[in-house]
Amino acid sequence: MATTTRGNWGSKIGFILAASGSAVGLGNIWRFPYTAGENGGALFVFFYLVSILLIAWPVLIAEASLGRFTGKNPVGAFKALRPKGQWKLVGYLGVITGIMILSFYSMIAGWTLGYFFRAITGKFSTISGANARRVFEGFTGDTFLQLLLLGIFILMTVYVVSRGVSSGIEKFAKVLMPGLFIIMIFLLIRSLTLEGASKGLAFYLNPDFSKLSPRVIIDAMGQAFFSLSLGMGAMITYGSYLKKDENLPSATSWVAFFDTFIAIMAGFIIFPAIFSQGMDPAGGPGLVFEILPVIFAKMPGGGVFGSLFFLLLCIAALTSTVSLLEVASAYCIDEKKWSRKKSALVMAGITFIFGIPSVLSYSNIKFFKALPLIKTSFFGLQDKLWTTFALSIGAFFIAIFVGYIWKSANALKEITRGTQKFKYALIWSISVKFLSPLLIILVLVMSIF
Ligand code: TRP
Repeated sequence: MATTTRGNWGSKIGFILAASGSAVGLGNIWRFPYTAGENGGALFVFFYLVSILLIAWPVLIAEASLGRFTGKNPVGAFKALRPKGQWKLVGYLGVITGIMILSFYSMIAGWTLGYFFRAITGKFSTISGANARRVFEGFTGDTFLQLLLLGIFILMTVYVVSRGVSSGIEKFAKVLMPGLFIIMIFLLIRSLTLEGASKGLAFYLNPDFSKLSPRVIIDAMGQAFFSLSLGMGAMITYGSYLKKDENLPSATSWVAFFDTFIAIMAGFIIFPAIFSQGMDPAGGPGLVFEILPVIFAKMPGGGVFGSLFFLLLCIAALTSTVSLLEVASAYCIDEKKWSRKKSALVMAGITFIFGIPSVLSYSNIKFFKALPLIKTSFFGLQDKLWTTFALSIGAFFIAIFVGYIWKSANALKEITRGTQKFKYALIWSISVKFLSPLLIILVLVMSIF
């Protein structure tokens, strides 16, 4: 059903890079380490890997096949297969979730942009474990600067999305992925050779099952969806640009592999460094922004490495924000018949407005720092609401839809179209019909109590 006028990836590697570009981002390098740090390290990593394998991977294939079959944005995809029922609501939930995640994700992306400018102007050369937090708080507390960075970042996203699928999104992803990986190898070496690094490795690798709690499991599952860009239709949308003769199982499995690999690698960089500097692994969202400048300060050529790293992280974030905005834009393009540019701009405007209270969570306005009753910040609430809950609920309904409404046998026809063989067809069907939805519900219910 996909037509070439709507846009297609130039090649299979194009899809893999763009989908990995969506998947690999701040989720791997910023969110994964601090969430693991808050949840006892290795124990979290264990449940994260289990979630990827048992829950996220099947949902990823379900999303991509649904997208390729219908050639549509999430709302359109549900409508195409079930014009009458309420299934399109799952698509709408995806569009909204995308905008909401984008609103606070762009704030963090703004931090990387700000840190890039600081690194390149040599501001980090004297930073140490002792003053890293103060530097970070001074930076995020500057509300005007933060709103500016948020705005710049959203506009950069609009620029890429406006240029369209293969000339915009795909081209950016191709340059970035290898570059980021190479710098991470240097960082890894520096971090592992710091004095006291082994304590960090122990924290990261030896699970302490006595710390087991529902929260560890739900955070791990939420992180798995977030990291693979699942549960809101980003992969439906990216799948819709995938050519019919492409090998879908192999392309998606590569994406899952890259994404997981980069996250695990980020942990190997962050934890040894955190422990060697006597810092707190449960330091929250500031964690990597506090420790990374310290590693750079202790590295020969750290100024250059630091600037390059934050630049690449910025681009990694951009290839992810692009996928978040692309979902909402594709919806406006397909369903409202707006132009690509108008769609991107209007959705970006809404995003910016919702980003403001997240920025204010770091100002000295008490209300946003600790909302009445729940006592978490506005940003913390947004993250929990949309990442942990909305993505899990979205993923649940996508699995049910593909398993029972579209039916897994039909999905398998689409999945094997370019390949004819899919070794794990049976396992996948069982996962998508029973295992994934059951586990998601179980974890969600557990988290309520
Ligand atoms: N996966 C991205 C990351 O890890 C973030 C992201 C992009 C995302 N698109 C998404 C998260 C869609 C959830 C849904 O940084």
